[in-house]
Order: sequence, then C-alpha cells, then structure tokens
Amino acid sequence: MNGPSEVRSLIASYWEDPAAASLAGYLARGGYEAARQALTAMKPEDVIEEVKRANLRGRGGAGFPAGLKWSFVPRTSPKPKYLVVNADESEPGTFKDKYIMLRSPHLLIEGAIIAAYAIDARVAYIYVRGEYDVCRLRLEEALREAYEAGFLGRGIFGTAYDLDIYVHKGAGAYIAGEETGLLESLEGKRAYPRIKPPFPATVGLFRCPTVINNVETLAYVPFIIRHGGAWFASLGTERNGGFKLYCVSGHVRRPGVYELPMGTSLRTIIEDHAGGVWQDRRLKAVIPGGSSAPVLRADEIDVPADFDALAKAGSMLGSAGIVVMDEMTCMVRALEVIADFYADESCGQCTPCREGAPWLLEMVQDILHGRADPSYPDLMLQVAQNILGRTICALGDAAALPVLSFVRKFRSEFDYHIEYKRCDVEERYGGVSNPD
Ligand SMILES: Cc1cc2nc3c(=O)[nH]c(=O)nc-3n(C[C@H](O)[C@H](O)[C@H](O)COP(=O)(O)O)c2cc1C
Ligand code: SF4
Repeated sequence: MNGPSEVRSLIASYWEDPAAASLAGYLARGGYEAARQALTAMKPEDVIEEVKRANLRGRGGAGFPAGLKWSFVPRTSPKPKYLVVNADESEPGTFKDKYIMLRSPHLLIEGAIIAAYAIDARVAYIYVRGEYDVCRLRLEEALREAYEAGFLGRGIFGTAYDLDIYVHKGAGAYIAGEETGLLESLEGKRAYPRIKPPFPATVGLFRCPTVINNVETLAYVPFIIRHGGAWFASLGTERNGGFKLYCVSGHVRRPGVYELPMGTSLRTIIEDHAGGVWQDRRLKAVIPGGSSAPVLRADEIDVPADFDALAKAGSMLGSAGIVVMDEMTCMVRALEVIADFYADESCGQCTPCREGAPWLLEMVQDILHGRADPSYPDLMLQVAQNILGRTICALGDAAALPVLSFVRKFRSEFDYHIEYKRCDVEERYGGVSNPD
C-alpha cells in the first residue's frame, strides 16, 4: 500500500480550494498524473484489476463493482466501445455529483479518461441532468482546458490512444437517469428503459459495448490509480472500498455533502457531521439512500452506511441521499410527497408501474383527506407488493419500497388519519414539519 496512512477526505479535499476547479489548480495538486500513469505504464487489463482490487462499488445507486463491470466489455469486439458518464442526478435527496462537476470537474474528466482507456473506448459522453446548466457549462470549460493541454484528443500523453469526450444535455426526466433510458435519450429517442439482458456492456449505446458509470464512481478512479487499489479498499469496509459522498438533507442543523469513510454509521453522519436534528427536536425517521430507499425508524440508525450493511438492515445505500425527519413529521404526508414523485416520473411502459404508482398516490391522498376506509393500508401494501420485481426497470421498485416501509413502520399514523380524519402528529404538536 503506497497511499497516505491518514486521510480525512479525497474528492472533498479538492473542494476546500476554489482554484482546484481550474486546470492550473488541478495540475498543482498532481492532476492528470494518474491518467498519465495508466496510459503510459499500465495495460488496460491492469487498470481493471486495480479497480477490482479497490472494491469500488458504483455510486449511482445499485453498488455494482466498477472493475467487474468494465471487465464485461468484450475486448475482441470489432464494434466501437463507449463510456457514458451518468450525471443525471435526479434522485430526490441526492446532490453530490453536482458538487463534483462544479468544484472538481477535472477529477471526473481524469477518471473518465482512465475508465475509457481500460475498456478501449475512443468516445465518451457525459449525460448531464437537463436542469444542471451551470454544471454543464463548467464541464464544457474544463473539457476545453483538457483538450488544450493535450489530455484529450489524439495521441494522449504521446501514446497511440485517442479519446473524445462530449457533454450531452439531459432530457429533464428522472427516468433518463436509468442507464438504458439514458442510452435511448442519448440516441435521440424518448428515455424508455430497455429490457435487460442484454446488458449495456455488450449491447449498449448504438448497440455497441458500453460502460455507464456514475460521476462519483469515476471521480474516485484517479485516487485508485495514484495510490493503489488495496489502499483504497482499506479505507472502507469489507467489499465496500474507499470513501463515500453522503448527502444529508431534511431536519438537520447542517445539511450538506459529507465525504467520509464508506461504512461510517448513519448516526455518526447525522449527529456528528450534520449537527443532529434541528430545533432540539427528536429524530423520527431517516431515508438513507434517496427517496426510493425504505425508511428507517430512529432506533434503526446504528448501522454502517455501506451497501451491504444497509441492505441487511432492510434498506439500501442507493445514492446516499440521507433524508432526516424530525418528530413533527407526518409520515402520511411525507409518503405523499414521495408517491407523487414516482407517479409523475413513471415512463408508462409497464402496467404495474404506470397504473400502480398513481394508484398508490391516490390512496395516500385519500387517507390524508379523510376519504379512505380501514382497508386502505393493507390494499396499499398489496398494490406495492404487486409492482415489486414485475417491471422493466427499478423505478417500479422505487415506487413500491417506500410505501411498504412507511406503512409497515408507521402504520398507526395511517390508521389514525383514516379513523379520525385528522393528523395525529399535528394534534400532538400543534403543527407538522414541512415534508419537502
Ligand atoms: C429510475 C432510475 C433513475 C436513476 N437515476 C440515476 C442517476 O440520476 N444517476 C446515476 O448515476 N444513476 C442513476 N440510476 C442508476 C443507473 O441506472 C446505473 O445503475 C448507474 O448509472 C451505474 O453507474 P454506477 O455503476 O457507477 O453506479 C438510476 C436508476 C433508476 C432505476
Ligand atoms: S418500471 Fe416504470 S419507469 Fe421503469 S420502464 Fe416500467 S413503466 Fe417505465
């Protein structure tokens, strides 16, 4: 292991220095040395092995091992290969990729160069969320700088390797962040997710082998090449290497993005880093991984925030959008906000999602407005169960999982609304916290 023994942050260390957003500032911190090392001194398969050793799990939501994904690209295929950077960042509660693009765009570009080299892609696209215009402009400027310096284009670092990176403005829909919906959108079509298999590694963009990676996933790659995969792996937990950007929002004193070792406990993130629950109130619930992750009760947050531990705890790390809810939160209203989002964002291809998501919303609204009967909570569970696992993409699951967890864990609030046509929380506290 040749990395520093004590590190407080990796990506976020660049954010402390505003100059690091420019090429000059990035170079002053050793920028593009990892890409130079990979392209001039390592074979593509060595790069993949190093990333495998790092236990770098995809930061876009599913946590798939990055090195393994890269290794699925058929090296002997005569077709062009593509790297696609998923910068669509639309999962409610998630706002980390924005920071990378704005404050350390060259980290992403350098990571993309290394990844593209590893899979033998000569063209890469960065698909940026439609609403993130400032990020897009910042990336375009950083790409211009990288081309001028010879880090992109023909014969990079004097090698025979060529790479072009293009920025593509997203279509303004959550579903365009689903990797195959994204590919459709990039091809100029409506972002309808594709049935898998085949997976993009073999049949991806323009039906060619393609790797899709999240912004944060790629931004960690230069550190792995610079200091070694084993070093990166040692920073996190078993099978969950490195550091992680946690986005904390909701009812905390200091919302923000915190970079911490993978597996830091949820309680530590919320209490020590985000300052704990605001206004001296008590904690009620936490969504640990963006709005699609099952909610945890206050007594369930002593859990390492990594992919495996949170799955074991019945939720998921997802995109690490940690949404904190205080004791004055009405869980029925909070679920309405989430259900509304998924009903709105369903692309409509699969019946369970297209019909089920709005039905779930309708039921939760009926409960809120005193129009429901006592059968509703069980009916909601049944509808959600029937969406789960029966759709083309994971948006169906994302619509179902919050319902299952909110209703099961906070059932009494749903029942109270139905029986008394009033909010139990509002009665007890004289008001409710804003669920947005
Ligand atoms: C409905 C839906 C929306 C998604 N949105 C995003 C997104 O905005 N950004 C992202 O990186 N991944 C998103 N994903 C996950 C991607 O499909 C894909 O797993 C990810 O980009 C792969 O990169 P990674 O392996 O580096 O995590 C979404 C998935 C689903 C089902
Ligand atoms: S699950 Fe929903 S969003 Fe995904 S393809 Fe089916 S209808 Fe579209």
